[in-house]
Amino acid sequence: MPTIQKQTGAHFTPPDLAAVVAERIAPHVEAMRGAARILDPACGDGNLLVAMASALSAARLRRCTLSGVEEDAESFALLRRRIEALPALATDLVCGDFLDIVDDASLYSSAPRLPLSDAIIANPPYVRTQVLGAARAQALASRFDLRGRVDLYQAFLVAMTRQLRPGGVLGVITSNRFLTTRGGASIRHFLRSRYELLEIVDLGDTKLFEAAVLPALVFARKRCGERDSLRAERTAFVRIYESVDGIRDNAEQVSSVTDLVRRPRTGRFIVRDRSYDVAAGTLEMDSDDARPWTLLTSKENSWVEQVRAKATCRIADVARIRVGIKTTADSVFIRDDWEELPQAVRPAAHHLKPVLSHDDAARWRRRVTSSAARMVLYTHEVRNGKRRAIRFDERSATWRYLLANRERLESRTYVVDAGRHWYEIWVPQDPQGWSVPKIVFPDISPEPRFFLDRGGSVVDGNCYWITTRDLADEELLLLILGVANSSVIARFHELAFPNKLYSQRRRYLTQYVGEYPLPARDSREAKQIVKAVRVLTGAAVSPAEIASLQLEIDELTAAAFGVGAERCAFED
Ligand SMILES: C[S@@+](CC[C@H](N)C(=O)[O-])C[C@H]1O[C@@H](n2cnc3c(N)ncnc32)[C@H](O)[C@@H]1O
Repeated sequence: MPTIQKQTGAHFTPPDLAAVVAERIAPHVEAMRGAARILDPACGDGNLLVAMASALSAARLRRCTLSGVEEDAESFALLRRRIEALPALATDLVCGDFLDIVDDASLYSSAPRLPLSDAIIANPPYVRTQVLGAARAQALASRFDLRGRVDLYQAFLVAMTRQLRPGGVLGVITSNRFLTTRGGASIRHFLRSRYELLEIVDLGDTKLFEAAVLPALVFARKRCGERDSLRAERTAFVRIYESVDGIRDNAEQVSSVTDLVRRPRTGRFIVRDRSYDVAAGTLEMDSDDARPWTLLTSKENSWVEQVRAKATCRIADVARIRVGIKTTADSVFIRDDWEELPQAVRPAAHHLKPVLSHDDAARWRRRVTSSAARMVLYTHEVRNGKRRAIRFDERSATWRYLLANRERLESRTYVVDAGRHWYEIWVPQDPQGWSVPKIVFPDISPEPRFFLDRGGSVVDGNCYWITTRDLADEELLLLILGVANSSVIARFHELAFPNKLYSQRRRYLTQYVGEYPLPARDSREAKQIVKAVRVLTGAAVSPAEIASLQLEIDELTAAAFGVGAERCAFED
């Protein structure tokens, strides 16, 4: 069961961060003529409204109404007490569902309407479809004209936009995922078309927040119309991530990460026992919303462009990248103790296949782990060119094993509902695909861990696998392996797809790895890379030899793309 916090998305903003967000909005409110209404549509116990009150001058505050909506009665009671304790000022607090208040289509709703706001400050709930439930997600999608996987914060974004007057200012704390993911394209489009984007702050893995999502701040002004939208726009950005190597030489000491948001500048900084890399610049926004918003300084941007320009193709042009299998009952299908089962229920050896998982992943070759004996009971085969579930012999031990686990397997009601057999693996992928040489890599890792599998293993769902379109082209597979594991491409990934998780872990999604550039195959460098990778993936190599070959591959890849092999400096 999702926790209450997960269901309502209630992660309150720490006061320090609330202050920074309010300080960014305050000058816009100070510059407004006449009375101003400032709204927090999901205000919890009021951190953002209290911060707003402190960020404004006394004179301005006297001509402001602080408006808050909160659906949770307990938080609302706290909010009321806090706001009423502030020096006399106009307030308009509502305990209710903000989405009902805004949704003018809900004619029967008894929710009060609110006047349009001049500024909105918000940390809206972030609740994914899985937690919302399909019915609620669908209802939100139709009420707020949303597509794809609906998250509560998207509905809030649309609702807040309806509630903001043209020319009004928005300051919102949200997840940074929409900046770079394919699924974020509709949000990028929505923001770009409705708003003049003033500034985006990617707070990455700075842990300013308790929530599992990595936060970003978006400051924007709602468009007034045609004339406004023609204005040349420059969106400032700040990107703050904990530094990968932790080197502290020449780093400036600052008192907190929020100080870096207050006075953003490119460089490396130390806050207590951690070091951070900050990049500040202007966002180069592509008019194609499908492209991610990468917050790069101009120097970083030209480095990425240089690498792209030297490429003759991308991995996705010459290879297929697929995710591994998903059994949805791993304890039944994947085990390393098959041998210990009584013979009567021990599946036949030809139904068991070795399976590679993220803990087998290492650079170049599979890590030797205690789970080397891990096998999957693989339930699919290809007959007459078509994939189908194996019709197991009812007298076989394999069938008896499945029957012994029938209750557990049948509890996956969606399998039968989809017209499939109760004993099937949910996502079996291509039963014939496993036997060819392939590159395997984990979906989440702090560093590149692409490795070669020539052993015909099945790949588990926490990893992806790459096969070349021409299955016989092993040289190409080795070139891809060398390039994907090189420090240049690690740097390319870091800059082009800064979708990090905590603890320096990165996502290696198909959409990212497919974009990796490849150098000309007939170049001297490409041939040398293939040679070195052949050694690294062949017979056992000493650690010293591995290190020297890795260095050679780094230098060759850098030369192939015309950039330095060293870590690209952050200075602009
Ligand atoms: C992420 S918290 C932010 C609270 C506060 N603004 C802050 O930054 O500390 C989101 C809040 O939205 C409230 N909430 C969730 N859905 C809501 C809705 N439909 N209408 C109003 N409030 C809602 C939750 O109860 C929670 O207090």
